[in-house]
Amino acid sequence: MSQMLMEPSRCQYNHNPMLIVQISDTHISQPNSREPHTLERISVLKSFVEHVSNMEEVPDLILHTGDVSQNGKPEEYEIVKSIMKDSSVPIFFALGNRDLDLNLAEGLKGLGDAKLVNGFLIYSIEGFPVRLIAMDTQKRNDRVGTTCSVRLGILEKLLNEQPDIPTAIFMHHPAFQVPTSKYPFQFSDISAADALLGLVESHEQIVQLFCGHMHRQFNVQLKTCNASIAPSLSSDNREGSYEQGLTKRPLFQTHRWKPDERRFESQLIPV
Ligand SMILES: [Fe+2]
Repeated sequence: MSQMLMEPSRCQYNHNPMLIVQISDTHISQPNSREPHTLERISVLKSFVEHVSNMEEVPDLILHTGDVSQNGKPEEYEIVKSIMKDSSVPIFFALGNRDLDLNLAEGLKGLGDAKLVNGFLIYSIEGFPVRLIAMDTQKRNDRVGTTCSVRLGILEKLLNEQPDIPTAIFMHHPAFQVPTSKYPFQFSDISAADALLGLVESHEQIVQLFCGHMHRQFNVQLKTCNASIAPSLSSDNREGSYEQGLTKRPLFQTHRWKPDERRFESQLIPV
């Protein structure tokens, strides 16, 4: 179990129903005045942290579904850590194609519980009504997602440890089609996506997949669970259409667990 979740100050928020905040694709890089979006993304992340700390109901945790940094450099994770370290809510990360596994795990140590197992960023978050598992979908040195027997093995072992607790998986690349995108399929090949989805389907406790990568909001009902994608936090690299007034605002999602319905109720929230 995460050390952070054991602290009494965190446990007071550990209530039912559970409230998750999700952000994605922050693409933080070193500030450069000749590239205004680098400054904007940093300021947007700061506003987000402030917004969460002022939320009427303190969420149980923040999930970041990857592409935390633009280039995977240690100094980029330092910026992220310096902004997020004062969050009163623990933050957990999945690995995006832009991230570098060792730099992320090392650079963001202490924020949440992201850790590498056999070279992959796959870990569980315990102690909440819904168990969470970060899945590593990064095809090293590539933009698309994938999986392999080693990581499927790690995931299956984790799933088999707690078959009766509702579980959500959070990961960067969707292993399913996103028809609203110009690039609807973002896995290396169908068989890799099917292998991951097959594992999901064979574990009835899985209630949700939380994804990023597409920079757009999306939601789909899969065979045995729901899957959703959070848009990028900053508007400068966001895709998709949003209702008037939201287009230029930083956006994140909340996911409220509805235990009686065994599903999450999701909302898009502007900062
Ligand atoms: Fe991204």
